This record gives sequence, C-alpha cells and structure tokens, in this order.
Amino acid sequence: MNRKKKAHFSFEDGVRAVRAGTLTPADVAERLITQMTNKELLWMLDGDVPLRAIITLPAKIKAGPIAAGAIPRLGIPGVQFVDGPRGVVAGASTAFPVTISRGATWDPELEEAIGLAMGLEGRAQGANYSGAVCINLIRHPAWGRAQESYGDDPVLLGQMGAALTRGLQRNVIACVKHYALNSMENARFKVDVTADEHALHEVYLPHFKTVIDAGAESVMSSYNSVNGEWAGDNKVLLTDILRDEWGFEGFVTSDWASGIHDAVRSLDAGLDIEMPLRMHRARELPKAIAQGLVSKESLHRPVRRILSTLVRHAAARDQIAPPKAVLASPAHRALARRAGAQGAVLLKNDPVEGAALLPLDPSIRRLAVIGALAVEANMGDHGSSLVHPPSSSSPLDGLREALPTVSITHVDGTDLAGAREAAASADLAIVVAGMNFDDEGERVENEEPSDTPIFGWPMNTLVVGWLLKKVARLISQFGKGGDRTSLTLHERDERLIRAVVDTNPRTIPVIIGGSAIIMEKWRHDVPAILMAWYPGMEGGRAIADVLTGAQEPGGRLPLAIPKDAAHLPFFDASASEITYDAWWGQRKLDRDGNRAAYPFGYGLGYTTFEMELIEHHASDADGVATVRVRNTGARAGSSVAQVYAVETSGASRVPQLIGFRRVRLAPGAETVVEVALDLSPTRERDPSSKTWSRRRGNWQLICDAHSPADFNAARPLYSDATSR
Ligand code: BGC
Repeated sequence: MNRKKKAHFSFEDGVRAVRAGTLTPADVAERLITQMTNKELLWMLDGDVPLRAIITLPAKIKAGPIAAGAIPRLGIPGVQFVDGPRGVVAGASTAFPVTISRGATWDPELEEAIGLAMGLEGRAQGANYSGAVCINLIRHPAWGRAQESYGDDPVLLGQMGAALTRGLQRNVIACVKHYALNSMENARFKVDVTADEHALHEVYLPHFKTVIDAGAESVMSSYNSVNGEWAGDNKVLLTDILRDEWGFEGFVTSDWASGIHDAVRSLDAGLDIEMPLRMHRARELPKAIAQGLVSKESLHRPVRRILSTLVRHAAARDQIAPPKAVLASPAHRALARRAGAQGAVLLKNDPVEGAALLPLDPSIRRLAVIGALAVEANMGDHGSSLVHPPSSSSPLDGLREALPTVSITHVDGTDLAGAREAAASADLAIVVAGMNFDDEGERVENEEPSDTPIFGWPMNTLVVGWLLKKVARLISQFGKGGDRTSLTLHERDERLIRAVVDTNPRTIPVIIGGSAIIMEKWRHDVPAILMAWYPGMEGGRAIADVLTGAQEPGGRLPLAIPKDAAHLPFFDASASEITYDAWWGQRKLDRDGNRAAYPFGYGLGYTTFEMELIEHHASDADGVATVRVRNTGARAGSSVAQVYAVETSGASRVPQLIGFRRVRLAPGAETVVEVALDLSPTRERDPSSKTWSRRRGNWQLICDAHSPADFNAARPLYSDATSR
C-alpha cells in the first residue's frame, strides 16, 4: 500500500491507548476502520504477496515473515507470519525436536519454555504471528505429518498445545492449526472427512477448545473438507462452533494457497484472512462487492477481528523486543537438547548377563555405531516446518563428543558383513535406524494433480501446473514425504538390526521417526530400544546424554505402538472420503482386546517408581486427584503420574487420560502431588441442545505410569445409569 496523507489515528496510537486503559482493542479497531478505504479493507483480507510472486515464496519464507494486511499509512503491521512447529522457519533459528517428541515429554512447563524461545526468535525477525501450534489428533500413525503434532490423545494434545501457546504469545500471536480433522497428507487437498457430532466434538475438537480457552488468538483452517464443506469455507466450523459455541474472539487464517475455494463463501463462513497470496479474494471480491453480494458489515467484521486481535496482542506482549542474538542462542540450544533427552522414550532395557545395557557402562572401550542415519542430523520432514539451524549434531557426533576416550567405529550398514564385523569387535553396538523426510512428512507433489483444486483453477491447467512444478523444484527442501507406506522399519533396517544383534547381543537400536513404528519382527530379539523421534539440532547430543546417563530418557509414548497395522483404524492415503469415528489408537486396541506392543503413556527411565491414587475431588467438568509417588530405585529421576478414567460396566475397559503430572524425585524419596483433571473424556455433548453431561455408566479413576490394563487399584468416580 502506498503512503497517503498522514493518518489521524494510527495503530500505534491505539496500542498506547489500550495500554493506558483509555480505549479497548475493539474501540481501536473501530477507529481505524472508519479511516480505511474499501481497498484497504479488502487488503486486510488476504496475504500481501501477489500471485505472480509465488515463485519467490520459498525464498521469502526462509528470509523472514510473510505479511498479510500491512497498511503503512495507518501504521497497521498486518500479520507477520512465521512457521512452524519445530522452530522458526526463517533465518538460522533453533531447530527443536519435532512436536511428537515434545509430546513425549509430557511436560507443559518445558513446552511453554520452548514456546517462549520460538516466540522470541520469531519476533526478533519481525514476526508477530507463529504457525507453531499444530494439534491435529493422529488418527493413524501413517499420517505423514504426525511428527508435527503431540500425539493422539485429546487431553495431552490440549495441554501441550496450550503450553506452547502461552509461551509463544508473550511475543507473537499463536496460530492453532489445522482446524479441523486434518490427519491425512497425500489426500489433504481433496479428502472429505465425515465425523458425526459426537466424534467431532468429543474426540477431534476438544483440544482445539482447550487451546482456545488458554488464550490462543488465531486459528488456521485446514485444506480438507469436513462433513461435505471445505474447512476454509465451512460456517459450521468457523462460526457456529468456533465463535458461537466456544466464544473465540481472535481471527482465522486459511491454510496456504488452496485453503479456501470460494471468496464470498469463505468470508460468510467466518474465515478472516486468505493466506498468503492475493488469489481468490483479490480476484473475486471486488466483483462480488460491485454485484452487491458482500455487505459492508461482511467486510468490517473480519477486519474488526484482525485489528482488535493485533492491537490487543501488541499492547499485551512483553515490552522488551528481543535482539537477533536470541536465534539459536546457547540458552535455546540447551533447551532443545534438554527436550530431545526428555522426549526420548526408552521402550526396553533388559539385562544382558545380569546388567541392563543403559545407561552405558563407563568401562566400555569400543563402541560400534551402525547405520546410515547415525551420521545424519535428521531433524524431520522437509515441508513447511523445515528449520535451518546454524549447526546440528548427528548421533555419531553426539557420541564422539560425549565419549572422547572410547574408540568408536561407524559403518553405514549397507554391507551386512561389515556391520557384523564392526559389532563383533565392539563392547556394544548402537544401530541407528528409522525414517527420514523421504519416508514421511509434508508433501507438495501430488500424484493426481487433476483432482486437486488449487488457486481456484483445476490443477491440470497448464500455467498452474507449470508454476507448481517450478515451485516444488525451487523448494528443493521438499523430500518425497507424504503418508508412510509402511508402519515398520525398512526391511534393510530390520535385517541390519537382526544381523548386528545376532553377532553381538549387546545391541541397542536407536529409532528415528515421527510416529509409531511397528517393531514385531525384531523387538523381542534386542535387549534395549530407544525411540528418539527427530530430536532437533542438538539431537545427537541429546541421544548421547540419554545413552551415557547424563540425562534419563524422559519420554512416555504419546501414542500406542501396536503389534499389527490391522489393529489400527482403516487408512487409505488416497481416499476422497473417509469417516472418523471415536475408535483409534489405544482406545481401539482396548475395545478390540488387542494388546499394544507398548501402550500409550509407556516409557522406562533409569529408576523405578510406584504411584497410587489416594483421593480425588471432581465436579462435572474438572477436578483434582491426589497421587502418592515414590522413587523405588537407586537413581534420581522422574516419571509421569497419569490419571485415567475408565467405564467399568461394559465388556471392555477403555481408559481415557484425564490428567497427568511429571514428578521428579531423589532415590527412595516419596511425595504427594495434585494432578489437575480434565473430565471432558467422561462427558458427552447433546447435539441438539449443545450442552454437555456425564456419560452413563460406572466410572472409575486410576493412576498409573501408562495406559492401564489392570484396574484393581481403581477408585469410584461416579455411577450414573440415567444421565444422557
Ligand atoms: C501447511 C501449514 C503451514 C503453511 C505455511 C501449509 O502447506 O499445511 O501447516 O503453516 O503451509 O507454511
């Protein structure tokens, strides 16, 4: 926008007035709107990047924030967006462990600190808006972007997302995404996800509500369609539920470039900003206005929401703007390292000749590190959440740094004889195996381009096809990615693990990946397994910290690892239509009587704990459980007290997480802690009255270190045969 005559009342005047308590953010928005031309009002409703500049978008994203609705004449900054879930994608920022690894920390305090760090790094680069809060429930572990979310439990997703939001919003507005039911990658531009009112409100949306209740000021709609309407044009989602039912007062942006399909419909539905290009709205709205299809109020309403949110945020955020030196600062890298260790899940640590292999025996002299991934700083997919840290540490780097006096040999494992030889001559072998950005992640290439409506034109339209290919090439960051084609390791990795452990029983697989990996073909043959996820720029050091015992493995599974893909919900990566019901993950395993290989919430430390629910107080919606926790081992350490509600009158027991708390204790120490409870999993929503009430049945509470299978210690919560 060109500078015109000097404004009478600027955005900054408004921020000052809000801080002084003389105007509300809504007043300021109104005063700004009265000074805006129609063109300026329209300017606020989409990104500022012209469609023709699409080719330069990848470079812009890497360079700094992407603007939408900046109007210098009035001092309006617009939104200044930086992605994303594992760190700020612009500049040389800290690459934290991916979200699923942070979900495995079960530590909202740590997550809030990470949010603060990300917000500082974004703001230092001129951003006021972050796309980091991804909380889609992982309905199936094959979802290519599972790594961007905190797992598959609504309570865990909600609490971790709320923590990240609180941290971020001290410096930038948090954008919670992708609303809603976005948990398939390859088909994300075409799939219609159907969910009945119960599944929608009681399974797939509660965590969005939790994060919004925690103060999130923005929401991003998803690409897919929900119950027959594209999410970005979906009035039920964007107005009826989000605003009317939940009272959300912030603004909604679209997912990028094909997140809305009809400019007027999206506006009426309640979507405020089309991101990031001047596309549908810039093309269609002026005509629609001329035809009388868009009222003045329809234009003012979104602008009011955007401006009042921007003003409220600018007035409330931390007053001291961070310097660029916060990017990948020593403190932020230390945080990334700590999170990497705390998210690492020790799945197994059986004794070999009387002693567990982990933590590593300090008398080890020769170590074989095996696998091509051992020398990769494997930080996650190469999609929109790709971060470019100034340095990184691979597992081999981390081990060499931590164990300078140990002789460490590395072989990549492509030659099994060489791998055996390396393992045979070592005291212990570590096999690093798993996934990378080719196996899973966000994907821009589409196998069926003609099915994909992008930019309002069919994808096979020559010019758009050409543009997209060019962009995909330019963003050479994108690996193949997409949904996983298999839930197991690559066969070559399974062969490698077996060959190495056959040669040297002291073998520890360290597994890299963004979601559950089925391990049946080899897990019984190895004494120890560490699930490291994609542990970030300090990942190698974090893995070494855990292996050496400098840190305990703090992770607990944020989704169950099944024994068989057949135990999971139906998944069709190319589906055009799919129904999401209320049975997934650990709940589906429990209902169907299939034991997990490792249940939801599971993970070992280097010490042992006992925990017991001693009392609880609960109202309908929330409550507090009092839990006694004792460190029964010989080392200081932590565990996560997990409180589950379970209905016990039916044939199967399906525990639902309702609260958790990480507890750190010295060896032999005991403490009593309170765990805040969110009882929404025990409640149901009446679709006609939109009110919530207790589910019927005989409900009990239990505290355990993972999703329980034994309910002897359960205590009654309520028994209610009648309510509905
Ligand atoms: C992704 C979003 C992301 C956006 C901008 C889209 O492709 O789905 O998660 O925030 O790009 O980077």
